[in-house]
Amino acid sequence: MARLPTIAPTAGLPLRLADLRPWGDADFAGRLAQWLGLPQDGRPRVQLECSGTSALMVALRTLKTLSPGRGEVVAPAYTCPLVALAVAQCGLQLRLCDLRSDALDMDPEALRALCGEQTLAVLPTHLCGRVADVAMALDCAQAVGAYVVEDAAQALGAKFGAHLNGQPVGTLGDIGFYSLAVGKGLTTFEGGVLVARDAALREALRATSAATVQPSRWWELRRSVELIGYAALYRPAGLHLAYGAPLQQSLARHDWVAAAGDDFDDFIPQHPLGRWRQRVGCRALERLAAFQRQTAEQAQRRRTQLAAIPGIDVVADAAPQARGTWPVILLRLPSRAARDALLRAHWGDGSGLSLPFVHVLTDYGRYDHVLASARHDRVDQARDWAGRLLAVSNSPWLDDGRFAQLLQILQQTALDAS
Ligand SMILES: Cc1ncc(COP(=O)(O)O)c(C=O)c1O
Repeated sequence: MARLPTIAPTAGLPLRLADLRPWGDADFAGRLAQWLGLPQDGRPRVQLECSGTSALMVALRTLKTLSPGRGEVVAPAYTCPLVALAVAQCGLQLRLCDLRSDALDMDPEALRALCGEQTLAVLPTHLCGRVADVAMALDCAQAVGAYVVEDAAQALGAKFGAHLNGQPVGTLGDIGFYSLAVGKGLTTFEGGVLVARDAALREALRATSAATVQPSRWWELRRSVELIGYAALYRPAGLHLAYGAPLQQSLARHDWVAAAGDDFDDFIPQHPLGRWRQRVGCRALERLAAFQRQTAEQAQRRRTQLAAIPGIDVVADAAPQARGTWPVILLRLPSRAARDALLRAHWGDGSGLSLPFVHVLTDYGRYDHVLASARHDRVDQARDWAGRLLAVSNSPWLDDGRFAQLLQILQQTALDAS
């Protein structure tokens, strides 16, 4: 197939030039609390940080002061490597939980076996907008006196089912965090959002942030320039320069870790989220609900078509009756060989294919120094998921014509694999 224009790998909300005006509402925390439907009493229920990773570090440092005798954090074995870097930077030991075979979520048996008197926190993770079973994680964590930190980095706007009153993901655990990084729906180029159920915990999170996060003009200037670049280039005509060309280079080197953006440095910047970027966030937030409705409708139509292909599973929410968000549609292919062949032929050619993450954390090699003993945790099911997952962009720029071509490619792959 001929190379088509670059497609954004996820459905991110484009910025308008008018969003960049330097005046206007800067109460981004208040607007986000309202948007999430959190109670509007007293101090804001939302705390802003400069990234999801920084938000996680503030959360873990806070919990460490509350439970100083505990040193382990349990996360799914298939997650963002930044989680492993954050846990290590906080002086804690990661434990990797294997996944269920039938859902992209931590396996309850495996989680129960990992939880003990050393466990500080468990991190149920809403990967790619798919809603994890946080009630199960709460059961396991509470049985051993540990906290639950919901990793909702990729799921701002996703909701639990009616039995939990449709409450937003991130708000069922003790603490939750969202990422505002590029490609995550709403973005301030980098940004993080912390929420917590308990008022005393919210105060403790504020105190940790005040004590550990220092202002940095350099980082804020850099992120502001990057946000302007994003506003200019995150559109069909600009994407090749910003995303397509570097992707082609990584793929030409057969470097899938770089192509997927999984190549992180150890250093995690921590600084406040500047006021101008908060203003930009406030304006973009006004369009987020409509954008998420549009992408959910598109995903619903396309999921039905994808589910009709024999041998290919469309990944659903693990939590019952949940309403996740749809930055991508995740597929599970019949085998790693079929998935890899598809990516070798079509990653970067405008078909909208990519990977959430390339490996389980233990298989990168480059993160071994932060994993320490977690390298020996059992991750067999997670490894199977990592080998067979495929993300189909749910960007509105992947139009119906291109999606029809992609369907044909997938049908052929399924036939070849059968
Ligand atoms: C599951 C998960 N957790 C945490 C993070 C960290 O968020 P951020 O990129 O905002 O630092 C990410 C980022 O991609 C993620 O995907």
